[in-house]
Amino acid sequence: MSDQLSTLLSEERRFPPSPAFASEAVATQALYDQAAADPLAFWEAEAKRLDWSTPWDSVLEWELPHAKWFSGGQLNVSANCVDRHLAGARRNQAALIWEGEPGDTRTLTYWQLYQEVTRAANALLALGVKRGDRVAIYLPMIPEAAIAMLACTRIGAVHSVVFGGFSAESLRDRINDAQAVCCITADGGYRRGQILSLKRLADEALAGCPSIHSCLVVHRGQGIDPTACPMKEGRDHWWHRSLEAQAPDCEPAAMEAEELLFILYTSGTTGKPKGIVHTTGGYLTQAAATTRHVFDLKDGDVFWCTADIGWVTGHSYVVYGPLANGATVFMYEGAPDWPARDRFWSLCAKHGVTIFYTAPTAIRAFMKWGIEHPAKHDLSRLRLLGSVGEPINPEAWIWYHLHIGRERCPIVDTWWQTETGGIMITPLPGVVTTKPGSATIPFPGMDIELVDTTGTPVARGGGFLTIKSPWPGMLRTIYGDDARYYETYWSRFPGRYFAGDGAKIDADGYWWILGRVDDVLNVAGHRIGTMEVESALVDHPAVAEAAVVGKAHDLKGQAIAAFVTLKEGFTPSPSMRDELREHVAVKIGAIAKPDDILFAADLPKTRSGKIMRRLLRDVAEGRALGDTTTLADPGVVAKLKAEYESLE
Ligand code: PRX
Repeated sequence: MSDQLSTLLSEERRFPPSPAFASEAVATQALYDQAAADPLAFWEAEAKRLDWSTPWDSVLEWELPHAKWFSGGQLNVSANCVDRHLAGARRNQAALIWEGEPGDTRTLTYWQLYQEVTRAANALLALGVKRGDRVAIYLPMIPEAAIAMLACTRIGAVHSVVFGGFSAESLRDRINDAQAVCCITADGGYRRGQILSLKRLADEALAGCPSIHSCLVVHRGQGIDPTACPMKEGRDHWWHRSLEAQAPDCEPAAMEAEELLFILYTSGTTGKPKGIVHTTGGYLTQAAATTRHVFDLKDGDVFWCTADIGWVTGHSYVVYGPLANGATVFMYEGAPDWPARDRFWSLCAKHGVTIFYTAPTAIRAFMKWGIEHPAKHDLSRLRLLGSVGEPINPEAWIWYHLHIGRERCPIVDTWWQTETGGIMITPLPGVVTTKPGSATIPFPGMDIELVDTTGTPVARGGGFLTIKSPWPGMLRTIYGDDARYYETYWSRFPGRYFAGDGAKIDADGYWWILGRVDDVLNVAGHRIGTMEVESALVDHPAVAEAAVVGKAHDLKGQAIAAFVTLKEGFTPSPSMRDELREHVAVKIGAIAKPDDILFAADLPKTRSGKIMRRLLRDVAEGRALGDTTTLADPGVVAKLKAEYESLE
């Protein structure tokens, strides 16, 4: 981390907003001034941009760690994202432009989206889904993913979207934790030319999910044979048939501001993912406000956030933020290198994308693939670029600026988390001078502070990123485990939310996010807990003990290195290594497969038996070993180091 920090901080380049961009920008300095003078009035003004059926009585009620925003107010998310855009010219404007990986396309105007959402909402009601019920969504990146989410919000059902790359077991655990009553999936989705049958995985999961009473199955089309998809009598229903039978009209449920909107599972420091709970009014206020101000949203923009709907970025910046603002969203189903490495740029040119938001890991892959791919395409409509998910190294930032932004487009590097619901630290593109690698300064109204190990504020220098005051989009709890909510986020530094990230503030007051300081990995922008991977490994009958650490990786940011001791009677071999990697894919999903597995006779432990992960990280990253004096047997780690080196 310190190497990375010194590279970051030696970055001297400055990119002020161009006068042309600044003069037309949605957000101006006044926003910072207003929020600084009265943060609650600032958020109240942002909330007023939404449609409420009943106004709130109080902006904020705060009793640590529980916040209530806009208490007494009522609104409906789908009405805000769809209905309110039907009155004027937006009615016939594209809400969603979608392209499938094979090249099939669909466009839904706001009016068409309204019809789909209301039909889907009626279909859910017809299946017996009620307000407050949980609905699991396990879909590829197709328009139905957004439609399904919005349909849930229309009737007050709580969605739990599960990333299509997660395994059947992961889906099952999430469904059972939330006690979901309905699952929405598809008979297939395209990824690198292959068809992934999500329904097959869902069937496997649902066999162990007694709370599910119905399953809606979207027919993906495009060469996928629906007769090949087994349908379970009484439980499974084709989405298109169910929607056909319904009227395109459904009264939106008037939801309390603090009623549950969605649960989204994310990794923490234990083996069990946490169900992050977001509620209605505050979340939508922050998603809408940040989309408008950070992405400088204007009429005519085509907004492409490349995140999958299975992650929080897909929730806030593919669906809720842009649609609440009446924007045109572009959505793509497949891989960036299919059928060729210029696919993203050909999509930008073809669909006239003006705002493009992606992750550093993708930018580093584009760099490796070469500038000829973007160079072939007309990217002149692009006017703003964004980055999210992990620290962006200055080299990648500059490459993005030169070869995608063609030196014209501001870059917004946005720091936030599943838990924060929306962007927290970011430049406002018409106001803030950017520095490659820095997320710059907190969004207006955000009370973020760096502290040292004792919780004392640090004005300049390094420390832990904490949030001092509640913010509208903050998580409200962990589903079914409020004690864990307090313990995880509010206990380390009393009175503050602790994000789990380390950061540094430079002489100009700019924030440089350094990454996680807990046992959470960030692998290609995906958040994975070391304990989850360890639990998956020890679940294999051959494994006695496993320790997992992250190691720096050029493209992915971090890669997973696992140290495994086998039980008596099992021998290390390349096939055992493959079997273990496959086992992790089955337990969690392919994204969690370890890159390296080292079979070890012993793991380095303290005399009290605690595995010293710090030393394992030294081994995995090929560094000189740190202090080994507290080890029960210092010989163990030297041996591991020699073995690891021969592995590579
Ligand atoms: O470590 C930070 C990193 O991603 C973590 C949150 O992951 P997740 O909940 O999956 O949400 C990702 C998308 C919002 C953070 O704790 N992170 C996110 N954005 C940045 C970042 N690190 C550095 N710079 C960022 N812009």
